[in-house]
Amino acid sequence: MTQHTDHEYPGHDSTKPSTTESGAPRESDAHSLSVGADGPLMLHDVALVEKLARFDRERVPERSPHAKGSGAFGELEVTEDVSAYTKADFLQPGKKTPMLARFSTVAGELGSPDSWRDVRGFALKFYTEEGNFDMVGNNTPIFFVRDPMKFPDFIHSQKRTPDSGLRSNNMQWDFWSLSPESAHQVSYLMGPRGLPKTWRNMNGYSSHTYMWINAEGEKFWIQYHFHTDQGVENMTNEEAGQLAGEDGDIHRRDLFEAIERGDYPSWTFYVQIMPYEEAKTYRFNPFDLTKTWSKKDYPLIKVGKFTLNENPSNHFAQIEQAAFSPSNMVPGTGISPDKMLLGRVFSYPDAQRNRIGTNFNQLPVNAPVTKTNSYDKEGQMQYNHSGNAPVYAPNSYGRSYEDTQGTIDNSWESDGELVRSAYSLHAEDDDFGQAHTLVREVYTEEERQGLIETVAGGLSDGVEEPVLSNAIKYWKNIDAEVGQAIEDKVRSRA
Ligand code: HEM
Repeated sequence: MTQHTDHEYPGHDSTKPSTTESGAPRESDAHSLSVGADGPLMLHDVALVEKLARFDRERVPERSPHAKGSGAFGELEVTEDVSAYTKADFLQPGKKTPMLARFSTVAGELGSPDSWRDVRGFALKFYTEEGNFDMVGNNTPIFFVRDPMKFPDFIHSQKRTPDSGLRSNNMQWDFWSLSPESAHQVSYLMGPRGLPKTWRNMNGYSSHTYMWINAEGEKFWIQYHFHTDQGVENMTNEEAGQLAGEDGDIHRRDLFEAIERGDYPSWTFYVQIMPYEEAKTYRFNPFDLTKTWSKKDYPLIKVGKFTLNENPSNHFAQIEQAAFSPSNMVPGTGISPDKMLLGRVFSYPDAQRNRIGTNFNQLPVNAPVTKTNSYDKEGQMQYNHSGNAPVYAPNSYGRSYEDTQGTIDNSWESDGELVRSAYSLHAEDDDFGQAHTLVREVYTEEERQGLIETVAGGLSDGVEEPVLSNAIKYWKNIDAEVGQAIEDKVRSRA
């Protein structure tokens, strides 16, 4: 005889039973079907088999880099007029666009502490009326390498060793000291902004150069900057170390709780704009991701502001399965000859087809608000489809297709032999110059001392020869005095 157990579970309403995934009422969420009370279980207990089989498949691959993070929904409001530089509909004066932001660490896995020293991801998705536009940046305006061929090696060196599965200062410093183009970003990472107090207290940057195109077809090179309205605040090594033990989710918690209590964080949106022709002669190669553009040469131009005001209601569906990509562009925007960016444009959707599934763009969090008309079809988990419309283009049966030919409006000219080479050098291009300026002219004396302590701490923890000597030489190339101070500290601790 069936026994209902309403009295045992307060709030339980047996008129609204739980169901199997095929929709039939479940008999129980608590007891499996057995031969007598103490007997073996039955393979035909559909509810148990389904529950265990689904549990066995709950985890999907985490993001290869940037696994740990979280985010929130919000709105971008364009408060200024930048229509002279871009025709993008969502960037026109007064326009408001719904959006999603996700912040992350780079090297740590899904369960890793938020307060480990690392670059932070700053990914934005704007659901515009011309399709999704994504700005997938970091909280640093530069990066460690300038060629996508090196990116997997860089990430491998930041993750774990093959034998012990431990993280390794030796591996990190080996890669960095043999990749001098990393000097600027490493100087940034080892400085105060390597440990943001919260995600709400950090800026975001495209780091790359992108393109804008105005209604007349005129092109501009641009860099995106998002300045926190909460003010930049950082942590000390001690605070970060303590928090890594006490509350590994501190940044995730901080963002969620701030939005929950109505304390909505916002960022002011600026761009630097370089006239198209000036890229050829600028003193730094503007497509080299390890360099910034001087704000004296190209001052910040305000665009608007975005505010995060809505928490996810389901972290997995809306944050874990969110798919950001620099390949998501809209008319009036474009990429640039930055080789890293060209590599990224391939890598993100490719990673997402693997991580989420072929039809990841059909999930509500990734789907554009615009109607799509793509001849790509089928694959695992197809949900939207084109009914019985023609599945090929061109066709004679009324399904529209495009065949624009000639120059595309977000293009650039290039020629030359196929080579494997670094960028052409501009007047002031070298690996250490901008790193030196950061360490010597931007950091205060206190911040410089903090950097020396942080680097010496890392180099004193498991870094062996010849990596140690290479790393010290690397720092002396950045700044002779700072390099010497690091060496003195490390050698005195040996
Ligand atoms: C060639 C260089 C790079 C490659 C191949 C690369 C590749 C990837 C891949 C495969 C993912 C995971 C995507 C996913 O599974 O959804 C990812 C995430 C991410 N990358 Fe990169 N990346 C590169 C450089 C950069 C740079 C230079 C930046 C910042 C300026 C950046 C920022 C991010 C961010 C913020 C995420 C996390 C996005 C999210 O929150 O979902 N990456 N990257």
